[in-house]
Formats: sequence, structure tokens, C-alpha cells
Amino acid sequence: MAGAVVGIPAAISALGPVWNHRRGERWRSAGRLDRFPLERIEPAVIQVGRDDWARSLESKTVYVYRRSADEVIVYSRNCTDLSCPLVFDPGSECFFCPCHGAIFGKEGNPMVGPPKRPLYRYANRVRDGELEIDLDSLPPMT
Ligand code: FES
Repeated sequence: MAGAVVGIPAAISALGPVWNHRRGERWRSAGRLDRFPLERIEPAVIQVGRDDWARSLESKTVYVYRRSADEVIVYSRNCTDLSCPLVFDPGSECFFCPCHGAIFGKEGNPMVGPPKRPLYRYANRVRDGELEIDLDSLPPMT
């Protein structure tokens, strides 16, 4: 069991280049760009359609960092260690992982704990004032 816990994220990480080569694009709205204040990090909930018979929806939370008027970074909510969901603290401007105590800085760099990689970033674009992210720009579980 412990091997699976460690091995699955490692396998996903190792398959990153393969994933990027084979992926398509799945753009979803994260909301109006002007909803995100400059130089701040805000969560955004993305509605994701599932391919099941009921066409049900699920949601995915990402963190949007509007670094400047022209630059937006969209972080995955998942820790780069074992994919636990991160919590952003606006006071310290850091991301905290509840699983093994990792801390990531505002730029997504690991500062404390086991992760060696910075936070994963989704491809994003702005169309007609709407911020869109490509859900397939990262492998599943990232
Ligand atoms: S999952 Fe281990 S530090 Fe985040």
C-alpha cells in the first residue's frame, strides 16, 4: 500500500512528457479576469463536465495569481509531493499542505517540507475578458 501511495504520483510525474505530447485541450472558464485583483492569489472553482451517462458536473478548485495586468498564473491546488489539497493563506501569502507540512511561496516555489518541485501551473488565456484554463495541460491528480 505504501508503495502505491509513493509510486502513483511518481509514475504520473514520470509520464508528464508523454502526457504533454498526447494531450488535447479542454478549456474551461475560471470567471471574468477583472474579478481577480492585481498581485493577489484567489481561489477559483471550475465546473468540469464528466463523461458519464448523466452528464453530471464536478468542480475543481485552482488558485489564480494575477501577477500583473498582463500575466496570470493558475496553480493546481494539489501539492507536488503526494497531491494533497493545498490551502492558501492570504496573510502570509503562502500555500500550506496539511499532509506533511509543506509550504510553498507565492511564486509556487517549495520552501519547507518534502516537495522538490514548484506548484504545477495550468495553461491559461483570456478571451473576451474571460479567464480560461486548459484542464488537460496537466496530468490527472496534479
Ligand atoms: S502531500 Fe506531502 S507535503 Fe504535501
